[in-house]
Amino acid sequence: MLLEMRDIRKSFSGVQVLRGVDFSLKAGEIHALVGHNGAGKSTLMKVLGGNYADYDGEVRLDGEEVRLGAPRDALQRGVAIIYQDFSLVPDLTVAENIALGREPRGRLSGTIAYGRLRDRSKQEAERLGIALPMDMPVRRLGVGAQQMTEIVRACSQDVRILVMDEPTARLAPAERELLFATMRRMAAEQQVGIVYISHFLDEVRRLADRITIMRDGAVVETGAGSSYTVDSLAKLLVGHEIVASLRPTQAGGAADGAREALNVRGLSIHGRPPIDLSIRRGEIVGLAGLVGSGRTRFARALIGDVRSAGRVEVGGRLMKRRNPERATRYGLVLTPEDRKASGLALTSSVEANIVASALGKLLATAGIVHPGSRARMALDMIQRFAIRPPARKKIVGQLSGGNAQKVLLARAVASRPKVMVLDQPTAGVDIGAKAELHNQIRLAAQQGAGILVISDDLDELLDLSDRIVVMTAGAMSGSFRKAELTRASLLANMSRLPGRA
Ligand SMILES: Nc1ncnc2c1ncn2[C@@H]1O[C@H](COP(=O)(O)OP(=O)(O)OP(=O)(O)O)[C@@H](O)[C@H]1O
Ligand SMILES: [Mg+2]
Repeated sequence: MLLEMRDIRKSFSGVQVLRGVDFSLKAGEIHALVGHNGAGKSTLMKVLGGNYADYDGEVRLDGEEVRLGAPRDALQRGVAIIYQDFSLVPDLTVAENIALGREPRGRLSGTIAYGRLRDRSKQEAERLGIALPMDMPVRRLGVGAQQMTEIVRACSQDVRILVMDEPTARLAPAERELLFATMRRMAAEQQVGIVYISHFLDEVRRLADRITIMRDGAVVETGAGSSYTVDSLAKLLVGHEIVASLRPTQAGGAADGAREALNVRGLSIHGRPPIDLSIRRGEIVGLAGLVGSGRTRFARALIGDVRSAGRVEVGGRLMKRRNPERATRYGLVLTPEDRKASGLALTSSVEANIVASALGKLLATAGIVHPGSRARMALDMIQRFAIRPPARKKIVGQLSGGNAQKVLLARAVASRPKVMVLDQPTAGVDIGAKAELHNQIRLAAQQGAGILVISDDLDELLDLSDRIVVMTAGAMSGSFRKAELTRASLLANMSRLPGRA
């Protein structure tokens, strides 16, 4: 056996998060690890990565007992981990990030031979069938390309065990297929053992030789991938039958449904074709498109995070000189696809994050902000969004990935915006919590917000939206009422080139 973990226990300040977990991995195997948000999946893999010296239990690699006290103990034995939230250096290029820590020396001491580094990184990417802009700073990449950079970096070392913590949460379907092909090849040809964590249960079933299901810090069971269905997995990881508690939205749920929440006219980014879009109060509009179609860039242009020409009106007020801070004041908020880089204050509490953007509102209405009302607002949101653990003082950086995502949405809702733009709102959220998040998004619409949802999950778009607009190559190429669309016709519209009807 390549890896055996026995009776692993781990606590954080007295709270036991792993309660005696057994996990094993064979060479050449893809072993999926699934479980609800906060079940302990990432923590277990961080133990394997040598991040927590104070775990209890036994770890064996190739039958030999090892004590993983520091990340280098794991690295030296060929354990590579791609963590849930990125660890790339934003200002370095793709090539430099891939080579980080193993840069080839230049002729002068203390210098780096960039040409050689670049060639080597490029080769390593090509070997995996991945094309990346080697000289571009990582901060300018979309999340899909960032994910691919992480993967090349992890695989460029002599890897025997590769752990991927939700690698596809932010990937589009085509990128996912590429990743799966890469994983299968690494397992089959190089006998790498792969641990794959994901909330996409259909993917997990297709890909995994074995599946381990965790719940509340313990293993429920391990079995052959082919022996599960999506439903049986869902039931095992949530611990009960999932009741579809979806409340349908009434079209134009707000009292004065005719009024516009958002009106965009002639918005043009870097001289691209101008975009028009309007969203009524109470309306949920889905924004569909392939990777690179310009959805995220459009969202960022709306709040002025990317420069653009044209008019943006929020609740009938023209937004002059757009920038993110001003957008918030006008009642236009964006929850970004990358919650770590541009979303949350990771070292602050859940309460501080949720209340932050609502503070202005409270000040305006109440005059002063009572500590009690902060706490009440935070607790209300924690309950509505089912944030676990339900502790308002918990530091956001210590939450599980899915729970951090819920905080991001809760913060947006708490500011009672006129317009919410949600970029991949349920990335990394488990199957049970997803329905609840959808309900909260619907509720915000019913209370009068206009909502734009960007998602690669077509079922999510079809489920949530009153109307779906499609973007191709930076331009709006179609607008459809939900009743006119099926999954297949939506996909066809996304792939159609602009100009061809
Ligand atoms: N550094 C930390 N300090 C305190 N508590 C932590 C820390 N890291 C994780 N936890 C807690 O441990 C529990 C398990 O978290 P973990 O990140 O392992 O969950 P997960 O299964 O990966 O969930 P998700 O699907 O949301 O990523 C959570 O309750 C989390 O809040
Ligand atoms: Mg996790």
